[in-house]
Amino acid sequence: SVFTNQHAASINVAQRIANLIKTKQEKGEKAILGLATGATPVGVYAELIRMHKEEGLSFKNVVTFNLDEYYPMKPDAAQSYVTFMSEQLFNHIDIEKENIHIPDGTLPESEVADFCLNYEKKISSYGGLDLQILGIGRTGHIGFNEPGSAPNSGTRLVTLDDLTRRDASRDFGGKENVPTKAITMGVGTIFKAREIILMAWNQKKAPIIKKAVEGEISAEVPATYLQLSDQVEFILDSDAASEL
Ligand code: GLP
Repeated sequence: SVFTNQHAASINVAQRIANLIKTKQEKGEKAILGLATGATPVGVYAELIRMHKEEGLSFKNVVTFNLDEYYPMKPDAAQSYVTFMSEQLFNHIDIEKENIHIPDGTLPESEVADFCLNYEKKISSYGGLDLQILGIGRTGHIGFNEPGSAPNSGTRLVTLDDLTRRDASRDFGGKENVPTKAITMGVGTIFKAREIILMAWNQKKAPIIKKAVEGEISAEVPATYLQLSDQVEFILDSDAASEL
């Protein structure tokens, strides 16, 4: 779907998340959400916070799994996705701390593979993700699944693309300070979600959205894999959709 602006689009996505949470609440079940970082989902999180504060939307039954984290990364660093999620969402809602999962950027490299396997198992132990939200990087990455990622890839340690590190350089005060690696859910992990929403706003995402939606399915643009699934919806503003 294409919305006239990112505000309207973000409100639509937030409402769908809220509906999922409420439907699960009525059944006495947990809502299992896959969450994303970056500028794109900030408006969705802001609307969810507003719904919590003004409409009493509760997150007590919500379990979250974030897509990715830089590696290495200390959770209390300003650029960590832990800090990002706390500031943009978790500090402002009533979610239980033990229900929040974000890949651990502090592990020694020898322990990362085990951690990644456990991350997958943890998601499965909750019956899988009900809904995964995604942004898209200009390399066509989803999560941090850079070009070359396999469609069945699982949670793992990856090397970041040069363009991705350049795009992150402002947050880190220079590309040389951006970690070269990250832990990310795999394309296969994302695909197991029962519903996937990819959001993109602004003109600068228009070329990659064209490739993701209309381009040949290929590892060169991992977001093209989303064409293979019926559970995927692209939520765009008119600028991001302008080359379609
Ligand atoms: C980072 C995140 C991605 C995100 C992308 C786009 O690379 N790991 O999950 O989709 O940035 O960021 P933005 O939303 O700021 O354009």
